[in-house]
Amino acid sequence: MFDHVEKLKEFIRHQSVSADSKFKDGMRGAQEFVSGLLGSMGFSVEVVKTDLHPIILAHRGGDASWPHVIIYGHYDVQPADPLNLWTSPAFEPTIRGNRIYGRGAADNKGPLLVHITAVGQLLEENPKLPLRITFLVEGEEEMGSPSFLPFLERYKNTLKKADFVFLSDTGIPNESQMVITAGLRGLVTFEVEAVGPKSDLHSGLHGGVLLNPIQALVDLCASLHSPDGKVNIPGYYDDVLEVEPWEREELKKLGAKESEYLKFLGIDTFHTPPGITPFEALRFFPTLEFNGFGGGYQGEGGKTVIPSRAFVKISCRLVANQNPEEIKALVYKTIKARAPKGVTLKITDGHTGLPYVVVPPDRTNTPKNQSPVLARAFRATDAAVTEIWGKAPLYLREGGSVPIIGEIKRVLGLDSVMLGLFLPDDNLHAPNESFNLDVMKKGIETSKRILSALASRDVGRDR
Ligand code: BES
Ligand code: MN
Repeated sequence: MFDHVEKLKEFIRHQSVSADSKFKDGMRGAQEFVSGLLGSMGFSVEVVKTDLHPIILAHRGGDASWPHVIIYGHYDVQPADPLNLWTSPAFEPTIRGNRIYGRGAADNKGPLLVHITAVGQLLEENPKLPLRITFLVEGEEEMGSPSFLPFLERYKNTLKKADFVFLSDTGIPNESQMVITAGLRGLVTFEVEAVGPKSDLHSGLHGGVLLNPIQALVDLCASLHSPDGKVNIPGYYDDVLEVEPWEREELKKLGAKESEYLKFLGIDTFHTPPGITPFEALRFFPTLEFNGFGGGYQGEGGKTVIPSRAFVKISCRLVANQNPEEIKALVYKTIKARAPKGVTLKITDGHTGLPYVVVPPDRTNTPKNQSPVLARAFRATDAAVTEIWGKAPLYLREGGSVPIIGEIKRVLGLDSVMLGLFLPDDNLHAPNESFNLDVMKKGIETSKRILSALASRDVGRDR
């Protein structure tokens, strides 16, 4: 069997930044690394071509009576910039203390390797393990998975026969409290450009006679929230559902302290709608965020100029029951209606992603027709976590998004069991990303236990 830390180092060295075409060798390297590893474990590997980065599908078949799990992960990573803020080079895996540093160490190379290693060890210990396994590993997650829907449509008839999806691409609050993620936020991203005069202008020669595109955008942006911190777009919250009491109980059990969260963020006050705690705000409510703003002179010193254009990049995080297409239409309509006279607004689509929630078994709102294998998978995960981490997991929604999980539910009808593995200080998407090697090791044990319990059907059989 391979050593999981050595394999993670190898994986990190492939510079698989999906969004930047300069990294296409790294993308191919990472894809071949995963395909090769799964092939060496006896899986039949299919590398599915897409318009951009291929999707890896690797099967281990078996008897039709065996449970069938799809294990999801992504081999692409976010850009590593700003490079000068890394203590060791972003693509040179470096171990300091009990952490391995490198872009993608946590998101998602380490967690994906947790499950690949678990399966490798299980199959070595028991080559006849009665479990069908399909690895589905994509290379476009960090750019909104543009190839994933066409892929799903093409493979839906075979994939929908599986029982459920298993993945680790979400977080935990600390090493002693594991989380089974019960929901993900959805996403709508877009860019608004305000176009004014046909070229940049001298602000003395022409200042005072026209609306500056930066001012136009600032006014528009300022109108998108009300002072109490809510999104100020008519209808924005209409489809947001009341949260079940059991979910509030889970959040209480988390026992998160506002003062510690403030300190972690390096701010001195929260900005949430009245009566909503920060912990509720990030799990149960949608947002509208400005991710980038530009226009005019950005260089050293000053420049007396009226820019001809300005832009803002916006993303909306959505919660369960909100439809990204409907929200997008609502937001665009509002922006157009508020377009300041004197500039032309141009809106460019980014991507959309569905929100997702899954209700574990035995809750007030568990679907009556929940698949028995999914229920067993949840119970197996709960039992494995309790055993290995010494404490039962919490079932919490997450603020982040993995949009394809909602698509898998919509197109294939399959739910996901999401075992959180990122710690708050893993620095996802930021400089000095790292993955905790103790979490990795225990994660492997947990995954092994979950999968072998499923195979041996000793969890929840008689419920
Ligand atoms: N693994 C993350 C999502 C995540 C982050 C879940 C932190 C829980 C905690 C995923 O790879 C990611 O970053 N997704 C993007 C989606 C986007 C680029 C379409 C996100 O959430 O911004
Ligand atoms: Mn991820």
